[in-house]
Amino acid sequence: MAQNDMSKDLEEIVKPLVREPLLSIRPYVPGRPIQDVMREFKLDHVIKMASNENPAGPSPKAIAAIQGMLQDLHRYPDGAAQDLRSAIASHVRLPETAVFVGNGSDEVIKMIAETFLQPGDELLVPFPSFSQYDFGAQIMGATVVPVPLRSAFEYDLDLMREHVTEKTKLVYLCSPNNPTGTSLSHRAAAHFIESLPEKVIVVCDEAYLEYVDTPDPLRSIDWIEAGKPVLSLRTFSKMYGLAGMRLGYAIGNPSLIRYLHQVREPFNVNAMAQAAAIAALGDEAHVMKSREMNRLGKEQLYRGFERLRISYIPTQGNFLLAEVGNGMLVFQELQKRGVIVRAGFPGIPEYIRVSIGTTEENEQFLKALAEVLGKSKELR
Ligand SMILES: Cc1ncc(COP(=O)(O)O)c(C=O)c1O
Repeated sequence: MAQNDMSKDLEEIVKPLVREPLLSIRPYVPGRPIQDVMREFKLDHVIKMASNENPAGPSPKAIAAIQGMLQDLHRYPDGAAQDLRSAIASHVRLPETAVFVGNGSDEVIKMIAETFLQPGDELLVPFPSFSQYDFGAQIMGATVVPVPLRSAFEYDLDLMREHVTEKTKLVYLCSPNNPTGTSLSHRAAAHFIESLPEKVIVVCDEAYLEYVDTPDPLRSIDWIEAGKPVLSLRTFSKMYGLAGMRLGYAIGNPSLIRYLHQVREPFNVNAMAQAAAIAALGDEAHVMKSREMNRLGKEQLYRGFERLRISYIPTQGNFLLAEVGNGMLVFQELQKRGVIVRAGFPGIPEYIRVSIGTTEENEQFLKALAEVLGKSKELR
């Protein structure tokens, strides 16, 4: 029998072969899966409020659409995702050539980097914000320039404008911003976009767009229609409740979209995701139910934090930041009580981010948090 030498350490041979920019990338830390926490803490009931998923679940129409296509799984999906792009195009009232779909907007973010960035280029990102923007730039060897938000986590677009240089190729605006929940007004963003050199591409990540409830929300389509080099990123993972399916999309000028196809895998969006997303887009009732659930859950958490005298950042998304002292410690202690949240975001160690859940989940979270902080009597 051949000897199994798998245990041999090849690190010294392999590491010098790896592309230099990859060596300094820190892996993405996702919200912990429920099963992991159940196993580690020997719990039989754990709730996850860590990944900004939709607590109302997927649209029943999406479930039916997936069930209806299972017998065709031996077929490759439509690589061009024609029907899906057409459904999205009528949803956003733009031509199909303006729509690009990906295996989650995570994949689209990576493809934007692969298409446009190379060593020497600069990418401006808000800080703190979604770490995948940095990841995309890092794998391409481009330079990430973080631009701090103001003290209450509002955007400082004047500061962002000051950071634009000859080397700036992409600017990310995330609104509502993850993890802060703060959002940009259309007016402020429009002023900023007008001020940019023509060759700077602005990517508006609007993953939480459907939750926004402000008088002047971003209307990125206006800029796309006006011929600006703007991409808007959207996802089926949040309001549409299909995070497990992996489906996100970009809309933008067809000249931008055309080049994204250069780095696209032939079948990057699977057949179930395509069917589910078309059905979900047509399920307005589920969207309305989810939005209302989020609105009520938000009020419940706000009231809970106020009773516990914990300061929080008012949110335009389906998650919010709460200031708890030592975020990582509170995160650990909450896990022991069967509640998974997120903590340890760069630059804001004193916060935890909690995704808004069902009434019962929000209650369980508040109870556990009160216990961890020694404030249980405040909730009585
Ligand atoms: C701002 C933002 N953009 C993109 C994503 C990724 O979404 P998707 O599931 O479509 O990859 C997330 C997920 O949390 C997010 O918060």
